[in-house]
Amino acid sequence: MKNIPLLNLKAQYESIKGEINSAVMEVLESQQFILGGNVKELERAVAKKSGVRYGIGVASGSDALLLSLMAIGMKEGDEVITTPFTFFATVGSIVRLKAKPVFVDIDLMDFNMRLGDVESSITERTKAILPVHLYGQMIDMCELRKIADRHDVALVEDAAQSIFAYQRAGDTKVIAGSVGMTGCISFFPSKNLGAYGDGGMIVTNDEKLAELLMQLRVHGASKQYYHKYVGINSRLDELQAAILRIKLKYVDKWIEARREKADNYRKLMREKGLDEFVECPKEKEGFYHTYHQFTIRVKKDRDALMKYLNENGVSCRVYYPLPLHLQESFASLGYKKGQFPNAEKASDEVLSIPVYPELSFGEQEYIVNKIGDFYGL
Ligand SMILES: Cc1ncc(COP(=O)(O)O)c(C=O)c1O
Repeated sequence: MKNIPLLNLKAQYESIKGEINSAVMEVLESQQFILGGNVKELERAVAKKSGVRYGIGVASGSDALLLSLMAIGMKEGDEVITTPFTFFATVGSIVRLKAKPVFVDIDLMDFNMRLGDVESSITERTKAILPVHLYGQMIDMCELRKIADRHDVALVEDAAQSIFAYQRAGDTKVIAGSVGMTGCISFFPSKNLGAYGDGGMIVTNDEKLAELLMQLRVHGASKQYYHKYVGINSRLDELQAAILRIKLKYVDKWIEARREKADNYRKLMREKGLDEFVECPKEKEGFYHTYHQFTIRVKKDRDALMKYLNENGVSCRVYYPLPLHLQESFASLGYKKGQFPNAEKASDEVLSIPVYPELSFGEQEYIVNKIGDFYGL
């Protein structure tokens, strides 16, 4: 029996160990741990690669969201239109500021918000739209930008799972995080560009917002011990930035390898005759999917399939088993079961199976064969 993890970070580390270890040693020798040259250089490089002018390193993707909403002046009673099918942090950031998440249902084709529902949910209290680019594929930001502009509401992008994903607009690549007032990136270890601990970044084109965010991440200080705002302590540290600078050199290659694995899976599943039981993720026309997750929709017996795969050495996971409108912590918002049927259906059907650059073709064949075995094919 094979033993295939959902993600193999050890294999990635082995491939760049020498470089990583010396980068870490350099930071230790320098004894500069907070907001030094590595953070600055990483901010410059990630901003450039995201097609924007500024990057602000922060402690996590969750803080990137919270700080972004603080910077645009989110306050009690404001409404934010977002998706119920995402990681908790997206909506946690809204509720922490006493604003109200207004959910709209998702499209089952890409698991992102339905654009038509976004526009019809806008009210005079709508302060922002907070789209999430789930699993590595963007929502249509060109269209969403038009909607936001028509109604004069802010756009903040949750690009935690989709660093360097893009969509084409004519000859230009519109990169995840570059369209909204800010884009929020996570460097959580399992992300396509992952640190060895928590980390995140806000990207923006807006100079004033960048200046404000740089203050908000250091308790709102404009210079040390002089506090213009009430901010928080949320900085990316030098060790993580040094590690990420090494990984950044390889990230395009790693994303391409993920895309290759995605193509292999689609081909293997089709050949196995699994189309009737399993729907593979699709790349929308004109979009570049980075396959942070390879998330299939299982039309029959999802939980039993997951158990069978686990028993046969294949790790897999449900992102996310309970949509946010049904979470206990948000009960006071008053949402009910049945209100967002696509998000609820997705929670019942999705299964993320192993995808990472080092996954071998043989391992993919094994996984698909096991899925086939489960359905008696
Ligand atoms: C969609 C989404 N938003 C926000 C976050 C929060 O990022 P972090 O874990 O770095 O705080 C994550 C990641 O875990 C995420 O997947």
